[in-house]
Amino acid sequence: MRCAPACYGEKMSGTAAIQSKNMQVPTKLPQHVSIIMDGNGRWAKERGKERIQGHFEGVNSVRAVMGAAVEWKIPYVSFFAFSEENWGRPEAEVNGLMELIGRAMVREMDTFRKYDVRFVVLGNRARLSDEINADIDRAMENTAGNKGLTMILFLSYSGQWDILQAAEKMAHDLMNNPGHRVRPEDLTRHLVTAGIPDPDLLIRTSGEKRISNYLLWQTAYTEFVFTETLWPDFREEAFLAALEEYASRDRRFGKIK
Ligand code: IPE
Ligand code: IPE
Ligand code: MG
Repeated sequence: MRCAPACYGEKMSGTAAIQSKNMQVPTKLPQHVSIIMDGNGRWAKERGKERIQGHFEGVNSVRAVMGAAVEWKIPYVSFFAFSEENWGRPEAEVNGLMELIGRAMVREMDTFRKYDVRFVVLGNRARLSDEINADIDRAMENTAGNKGLTMILFLSYSGQWDILQAAEKMAHDLMNNPGHRVRPEDLTRHLVTAGIPDPDLLIRTSGEKRISNYLLWQTAYTEFVFTETLWPDFREEAFLAALEEYASRDRRFGKIK
């Protein structure tokens, strides 16, 4: 039997659940949805569990969102998985998270192939271990030709780091072209996100209302949705609610309509 998109991943039940509840997907959907996945630690604490258990459960939320995004044909979905500042957390949590991310990436390869997902990791790769870098290279190479949804994992990423590394490259270009008048595109093409459309919608879970050094340049005209839901509880219904909120927004980009 062919597995419908609703079967994305082992536990995929989301779109089936949505269909059985007759949920309507808005017609105005974002091209790129980005998510600051926050609240894993609090989710675990509320249940008397170790923080890492919250991160484990958070992986199931990623799969739920991915399944829905494949079904609803959203072309780009990105997740903030680990910030440059997160390196300052206790070593045990950092190691646990890296192991979890590495393993999930390897485990999802079959699903990426099956649903034609292109998988991309962006961030300061120099700080990652050789082991996880090898897994990332393999996952990216194996899915590079896939034509469906692009899934981006921001790992060891910060917006300021990205702008600085792009500015350095831009400065180098300028040395060879001193009379050039700098334009936004001159920086944009050196950001690690070059070629990827800016997020139309940014969702942050867990009630925090800040950007935490995420995509600073790329969110100039992004719509923000903040939800109290903790990331491990963020499943298809919460995703749909955020998409509905997005569909109700009037984007003017500084112009008058
Ligand atoms: C988000 O959950 C995951 C990462 C930042 C890696 P947190 O670990 O920040 O969870 P809280 O915010 O402490 O609840
Ligand atoms: C932002 O969450 C980073 C990720 C979700 C990967 P944090 O939990 O690190 O952010 P702050 O410390 O609350 O701003
Ligand atoms: Mg947090």
